[in-house]
Amino acid sequence: MRILIRNCASAFAALALGAGLALAAPESDPMKALAGLPAGNNPLDPMTALMARSDEGADAESNAELGGLPDGPGAEDTYYQCVACHSTEIIKQQRVTDHRWDELWTWMVEAQGMVEPDDKTKKVILTYLKENFSSER
Ligand code: HEC
Repeated sequence: MRILIRNCASAFAALALGAGLALAAPESDPMKALAGLPAGNNPLDPMTALMARSDEGADAESNAELGGLPDGPGAEDTYYQCVACHSTEIIKQQRVTDHRWDELWTWMVEAQGMVEPDDKTKKVILTYLKENFSSER
């Protein structure tokens, strides 16, 4: 009899557990939340970077003397700051969010040992990068 009661108790526990799982709220799906919205506008949308065409944002003439960077305020500063370590190609192929540019800058400083220019130049370069190689415009 005692065994029967114990079995009943564990059966009840299993039932309760099953019901609990069934009642658990479904996980929110980011793709559902973003459904119907135009692609490429929401920086939180993982598709933003993928949807942006590689020729977008590069309206300005590219300057051969600056590694093909598009002309504009900050082009020269960007060129000299960045080609110390790698070519401009790695920059030109980017279409990332503005926020990601800030992160990349920090990563370049902290992980790659990039020497930071003065604050004004830093701002000019980051503005240039966001104007020309962002997925947000
Ligand atoms: C001190 C050296 C250094 C400097 C200066 C530097 N970088 Fe980099 N950067 C690197 C290294 C190393 C990598 C990794 C290259 C690789 O993956 O082969 C990299 C990678 C990148 C990437 C690719 C990141 C990715 O997601 O794979 C971007 C974009 C970039 N750099 C942008 C810049 C920009 C813009 C500047 C100028 C503001 C700059 N870098 C200056 C060292 C540097």
